[in-house]
Amino acid sequence: MQQAGSAAWEAVAALARQPGAASIRRLLEADPLRARRFGFRAAGLLLDLSRTSLTEKVLAALLELAAARDLAGFRDAMAGGALVNGTEGRAALHMALRAPAGGFRTGGEDASASVQATLNAMAGFVRGVHGGQIRGAGGDRFTDVVNIGIGGSDLGPAMVAQALWRPGQPIRAHYLANVDAHAWEALRLQLDPRRTLVLVASKTFTTQETMANAQLVRGWLAQALGPAAVPQHLAALSTNLAATAAFGIAPERVFGFSEWVGGRFSLWSAVGLSVALACGLEAFAGLLAGAREMDDHFLAAPPGENLPMLLAATEVWHVNGLGYPSRAVLPYDQRLARFAAHLQQLEMESLGKRVTNAGLPVAHATGPVVFGEPGTNAQHSFLQLIHQGTTPVPVDFVLVARPDHGHAASHRILLANALAQAEALARGRTEAEARAEMAKAGLDAAEIDRLAPHRTFPGDRPSTTILLPALTPASLGALIALYEHKVACLGAFWDINPFDQWGVELGKQLAGGILPALEHGSPAKDAATAAMIGEIRRLQEG
Ligand code: F6P
Repeated sequence: MQQAGSAAWEAVAALARQPGAASIRRLLEADPLRARRFGFRAAGLLLDLSRTSLTEKVLAALLELAAARDLAGFRDAMAGGALVNGTEGRAALHMALRAPAGGFRTGGEDASASVQATLNAMAGFVRGVHGGQIRGAGGDRFTDVVNIGIGGSDLGPAMVAQALWRPGQPIRAHYLANVDAHAWEALRLQLDPRRTLVLVASKTFTTQETMANAQLVRGWLAQALGPAAVPQHLAALSTNLAATAAFGIAPERVFGFSEWVGGRFSLWSAVGLSVALACGLEAFAGLLAGAREMDDHFLAAPPGENLPMLLAATEVWHVNGLGYPSRAVLPYDQRLARFAAHLQQLEMESLGKRVTNAGLPVAHATGPVVFGEPGTNAQHSFLQLIHQGTTPVPVDFVLVARPDHGHAASHRILLANALAQAEALARGRTEAEARAEMAKAGLDAAEIDRLAPHRTFPGDRPSTTILLPALTPASLGALIALYEHKVACLGAFWDINPFDQWGVELGKQLAGGILPALEHGSPAKDAATAAMIGEIRRLQEG
């Protein structure tokens, strides 16, 4: 099946079929300046692509493909407020959330005007909470905020709050996502209802898990403080004002946003209120400013210097050219422990698509499986497979040059490990090197023969490295925005809609139907489901 830009696709595929197309060690050895030629900078970040098998020729072919697929046109349409989310008839204007007033329009609407109004309301609220004008019903200052939400209404703010929290902040943020009440039971032990502010974060305000948790926590507040006290402990972050009112949240306690903010792009909106409360208004403003710097770069830089386009092009090379179906994200900074989880939603909910924008089956692979953990922990769990498994798994390393602690020796160990992993993946260890090492260690010839295959690494395992000078609100904002724009670019490369998520909806609908079967034993439609419900009910009754 032919797709738009087919000749350009074929040119990339032809390069990928050439012998040695995946080799990296050879490229590194041949060119000591490779790191400089494949290093790209924007918004304070350095993107190092030198430890991939990209060559100038491959990059040129990928950029030809980007031109054929009109990446720049898609970017401009998105920024211009066009309805780039075709299946839901919506714009995707998350850039307006971090833009100065008047920057972005959709239809007749000045998108950034409503954004500014919400930011002002959020700032007033945060100042009131921090200053003690907004207190619990009994007159106590708030010390804890619980954000109840899931998916985009949880992952982004939870990741950012963990990354940017610094000692001495007056409010601790907690995130309740899973409808499994074990999560709430563990969290409630840490909370004093008199001092707890609850934010119900849900774009739709209909998500089953979030609404169930919101009811649980509202009940806890009512029981501890009395029903009349509850409104003073509640606020909502939502687009659905009718539903927030029905839930009993006063309009002045509702921080809104627009339909053109996708869930996984919403941490910059009212959904970031927990971040502003826990890390401060200055940190939240810095986060937005860093993202804006990346937006400005994305909108203006030529494709060959454009970090999001280059990162997306690298993914196309790995996924479509070389056939690598997954990617690992390894931030070497414990504060970014939830970064991979955020990217999993951002990328896999956006790019897990099997039909084109026109509804035809895609002729190539789309989004890879994304997973990750912070380094160095990841080294002791899944990195073995990435070094010696049968299918290469490209890695994104995220490094931070200057830590915010005084333990310089620990930080050197951390960075040395990250650099060593990237080097080991790319260079591997040849059989001759493995044999020489064992001979030096005094092993006899038979033992060397036996162990040589096990101790030989093929190398040529790709990685990209993103270096941040320090983990600041601005550098984190730029980093997240880089990945957001990469996702949009991949949507254009692959001719898929990165802004919808119909697949997730089916499970939601089915869960509604299965609930009565679990509760009353009424028949379930699916035989395997019915059998499992029978087992569960038997165990529950016994
Ligand atoms: O996972 C599906 C999804 O719709 C996400 O896109 C979204 O972030 C999440 O559910 C939560 O939705 P809401 O913010 O409407 O509760």
